[in-house]
Amino acid sequence: MEKNKVGIIGIGSYLPEKIVTNKELEKMVDTNDEWIRSRTGIVERRILDEDKATSFMCIKAGELALKDAGLCPEDIDLIIVTTITPDMAFPSTGCIVQRELGCTNAAAFDLEAACSGFLYGMSVAYGYINSGIYKNVLVISADALSKIIDWKDRNTCILFGDGAGAVVMSKVEHGGILAIDIGADGKGAEYLKQPAGGSLYPATHETVDQRLHYVQMEGNGVFKFAVKIMDEASKKVIQKSGLELSDIDYLIPHQANIRIINAARKRLKMTEDKVFVNLDKYGNMSAASIPVALDEALKKGNIKNGDNVLLVGFGGGLTWGSCVLEWHR
Ligand code: UT7
Repeated sequence: MEKNKVGIIGIGSYLPEKIVTNKELEKMVDTNDEWIRSRTGIVERRILDEDKATSFMCIKAGELALKDAGLCPEDIDLIIVTTITPDMAFPSTGCIVQRELGCTNAAAFDLEAACSGFLYGMSVAYGYINSGIYKNVLVISADALSKIIDWKDRNTCILFGDGAGAVVMSKVEHGGILAIDIGADGKGAEYLKQPAGGSLYPATHETVDQRLHYVQMEGNGVFKFAVKIMDEASKKVIQKSGLELSDIDYLIPHQANIRIINAARKRLKMTEDKVFVNLDKYGNMSAASIPVALDEALKKGNIKNGDNVLLVGFGGGLTWGSCVLEWHR
C-alpha cells in the first residue's frame, strides 16, 4: 500500500457542440484546408456559443469529474480553475464555479499559465494535498480562445478551439503522481500574448480599434521553443520519477500542432500507438487540451491500470509542465 501518493480520483470533460471546419475558415481568412491539415494536423474545432462563458464549460466538466470521483460538492476543499479566458477579470471564474457546483466548503481561485495551466494546476493541488492542507481538490482547466481570437488573423484563428477538462485530486492507495515539474521563461513573454484589457493597456476605443484585445502570436518562435521544451521537460520529470524513458507506457502531449507532437514523440522514442492525438477534432484548446485528451484516452481504453503515463505541455509565458502518473482506478 502506497498511502502517501496523490492521484486523480475522478475525471470529466466538456466540449461545445458547435463545430467549425477548416473549409468554413476558408470563407473567413486567406487559408485552405490543405495548409491547415499539413501544417498543424487540425481538421475542425469546437466553438462555444456567443452567449456562454468559460464557467459554463467548467461547470459541465466539474460535475462529471465529481460524479466520476463519487464525491458530493461539499467534499471539495479547493477549486482551481486554470484559464486565460476567465468570464471576467474578477471575481475569479473559480468563485463562479464554486457557487454553481455548490462546493460550499471550497476555497476557489484562478491560475493563469496559458496552455500549461493543467500541469500548473495539478502541481498546486499536489502540494496542498501532500502537505495535508486540503484533502480533495478540483482542478478545472478550460479555455474559450474563440472569444479572444482575431477571426481576421490567419496566423492564429486556424489553431484554437474551446473546451474544458476537470480532475478531482486526492490521496490514493495505489499509483498516483510519481513526479511533477513546472517551469517558466519570461524572456519569451512577447511570443504569445493578449496585449490589452489589463492594467498596462486598459480597454479604450483606441485599444479596440487597434485590435489589441486579441491574441497575438509569433508562431515560429513558439514552435521552436515547444519542440525543445517538450523533450527537455519530459526527460527531466521521468528522471525525477526514478523511471527510465522505456518505462513510459503512454504519452498525453499538449495538443498544439501534430508536427510538435511528432517531434517530441520521436525524441522520446515512442511509437505512434502510444501517443494520444485528438487535435484533428478540437484544435488547440489551450489549458483544456491535456485533461480532455487524458479523459478521452481513458474512455477509449488506451491507458490500463498500472501504466506509467507522461503528461507534457507548454504555453504562453513562456511556461511548461510535465508529470509522470502511475494510473490506477
Ligand atoms: O499552445 C501554444 C500555442 N501556439 C502554438 O503552439 C504555435 C506553434 N507554432 C505553430 O504551430 C506554427 O508555427 C504555425 C502553425 C502557427 C505556423 O506554421 P509554420 O510552418 O511555422 O508556418 P510559417 O508561419 O512559417 O508560414 C509559412 C507560410 C507563410 O507564407 P510564405 O511567407 O512562405 O509565403 C505564411 O504566410 O504559410 C503562410 N501562412 C498561411 N497560409 C495559409 C501562415 N498562416 C497561414 C494560413 N493559411 N492559416
